Amino acid sequence: MRAALAMILMLLLILPPAGAHAVPERGVIYQVMVDRFYDGNQSNNEPFYDPTHTNYRLYWGGDLEGLTGRLDYIASLGVSMIWVSPVNDNINKMAHGSAPYHGYWTRDYKRIEEHFGTWEDFRRLVKEAEKRDICVIVDYVPNHAGPAMDGEFGALYDNGTFVTDYYRDTKNATVNPYTGIRENVYHHNGNIFTWEGIPLKYANLFGLADFNQLNPWVDSYLTEGALLFVNSGVCGFRIDAVKHMELGWLESFYLRLYSKAPLFIYGEYYSLSPEKTDDLYELYRYSNVSPVLNIPVREDIVRTLGFVGSLETLSRTLEDYYSLFVYPNKQLNFLDSHDLVRFLNEAKRDDAVERFHMALALTMTLPGIPVIYYGDESYLVSGDGKGDPYNRPMMVFNNTTEAARIIRTLAELRKTNDALAFGDFRTVYANYSVWAFERTFGNHRLFVVMNKGSQRNLTLPLDWEDGTYRDALTGAGMRVSGGKAFLELLHNSFYVFHVEGEQNEPLIGSVTPYTAEPGQRILIGGAGFGSSGRVLIGGVEARVLSWNSTEILVEVPEVKAQRAWLDVVVETGEKASEPAKLRYYSGNDVPALIAINATNLTGGLWIKGSLPELAEPRPLLRSSTGYYFTVAPLPNGTAFSVELYRGSSWGELEPLNVTLYGFVNSTVVVLRDEPPIVETETAPAMPTMTIVHGPIEENPLPYLLAALLLLGVALIIWKKRG
Ligand code: NOJ
Ligand code: CA
Ligand code: CA
Repeated sequence: MRAALAMILMLLLILPPAGAHAVPERGVIYQVMVDRFYDGNQSNNEPFYDPTHTNYRLYWGGDLEGLTGRLDYIASLGVSMIWVSPVNDNINKMAHGSAPYHGYWTRDYKRIEEHFGTWEDFRRLVKEAEKRDICVIVDYVPNHAGPAMDGEFGALYDNGTFVTDYYRDTKNATVNPYTGIRENVYHHNGNIFTWEGIPLKYANLFGLADFNQLNPWVDSYLTEGALLFVNSGVCGFRIDAVKHMELGWLESFYLRLYSKAPLFIYGEYYSLSPEKTDDLYELYRYSNVSPVLNIPVREDIVRTLGFVGSLETLSRTLEDYYSLFVYPNKQLNFLDSHDLVRFLNEAKRDDAVERFHMALALTMTLPGIPVIYYGDESYLVSGDGKGDPYNRPMMVFNNTTEAARIIRTLAELRKTNDALAFGDFRTVYANYSVWAFERTFGNHRLFVVMNKGSQRNLTLPLDWEDGTYRDALTGAGMRVSGGKAFLELLHNSFYVFHVEGEQNEPLIGSVTPYTAEPGQRILIGGAGFGSSGRVLIGGVEARVLSWNSTEILVEVPEVKAQRAWLDVVVETGEKASEPAKLRYYSGNDVPALIAINATNLTGGLWIKGSLPELAEPRPLLRSSTGYYFTVAPLPNGTAFSVELYRGSSWGELEPLNVTLYGFVNSTVVVLRDEPPIVETETAPAMPTMTIVHGPIEENPLPYLLAALLLLGVALIIWKKRG
């Protein structure tokens, strides 16, 4: 009996709270910068505190208690997820003239920043939010710790115990024989000096101490840190700076987090333009593993509505952009953020507020999950400047504005109209000033029409039943008759006509997460699921954990397949859904460095191989040590083969008719031209390191000064002698 009770208690402690996970597409995210939201506890404000809120680079007092106290306000906007800025313990010094009030300069991934509160405060936030049907997404920063050359010089702690800093780490750094990268806990390759290739991922982003995620200690440390949040009940992560990490490491990191819960993880891939560059190709590849913030979409919307531009051009650009993604509806749309100038700080037009309303409504009706930046609802701007850090003023609470009404109305509509959550996207009409698009999911429909030009009447083709439809935002009417919609469009107007018909056949809208390995739980969102049935993944029946007409939770079965994507099908009664897609991994995966000794090869090389993980071509980087390499999650203890290709991101890949072989029994897999003899094969070991927990030494500056002083004295003596 006791043992059983102990077991239940342990399970309760290990398993994240149930019910925290909902289908993300049916929700709206509210983004909060903790320091700038609400000061709920004045005793944690010092040091580096500015009570006057005039120095934007100091702490202004906001904390987890303050955020928790304001949950009713957030809930009043109809949102169902909160993205909180990073809350891990940050450096205790100023660096580059700023305190780490923003949270992106971590020193301890297992502790909470003392200006923001404690783990208990964090868990209370999650619990209180859950009572309001809101879940918490935390910003996590696995690319880098704090500044390498200032502040605490990359000092890193493991739950309070000093591990290393950038200078000590340098002493133990070695050159990885396969990548040519100087590395230990951190990479030691200076700052990113060219925004592509090896430096992009293996050098310091804006001087921030860049982690070597392939170091087994770093890999476990960052994973353990993230799991502390999972065990505290978060429903997802916003992962910072994904462009600067190896995709293969991220894949493996995410799989370990997903093995605990069907989380919603999205990345910040900073790219302002949707033009077809190698960079965009990488973003697209990344999006097949995890959704991203649609930064290029935001840029286009702000340009077109905040300045000048054609809605027709915008419609084409966005249709092209969304067509790149396997799950466009899981991407994230936003207008304002902590990195970009707020719309109202940027758009200098007499009708800026009207255009802001239109832009807000557009980000909430396009394919993708809307993110509302704190204060968008209260027209928050700074009078002191525009971009970072002036896009982070202290929150002004006002949920009675027109912007708040738009957010609330469209957030509520999203909960009931699945065309917003899962619909397709088709432009019906577009010219310079008018854009009309339709979105459909089964019997749920949306017809979105906007006009930034003068008032006009318009007749458009629309295949809806005859009748009069009401716009969700203003109540304006639209008459449909004989396949035509008759519209009266005011100047600077935005209309959302909608239909919520019954869905009697199973229809899948989304899978969360859409990357999975056997044993992992995934949440299937959609309609017409009835009350029971079967789910087939790659043709194999999945264990059902819960089932209702719009959501099914299943466990991914083992599937003997070498394909990257598997079909997910819901069957209920006699009816089967159209397949949705799941990116499948074999299971038991480790992040592996795949290296090819390639002194005789040139050009852009790719591999494609005999495992689901390698079924889609992966580009290789060329090292200075004569190897080509990439990182991929690979099933431990498995032999595999790959084919070599040559080519570039958007072109056809040319097969080189070379087959190479590998065996995964370590984090380095050097491919050879003979199949491995599995019993005896030992892969070369990664350069490893032992973490020595030493006493905390603040920084190397005193030593440097002392050395300079000694040198000076020596010089004087030498001169005097001479
Ligand atoms: C992107 C974040 O959004 C930004 O605010 C931060 O400074 C950098 N990454 C570095 O962490
Ligand atoms: Ca405070
Ligand atoms: Ca990096």
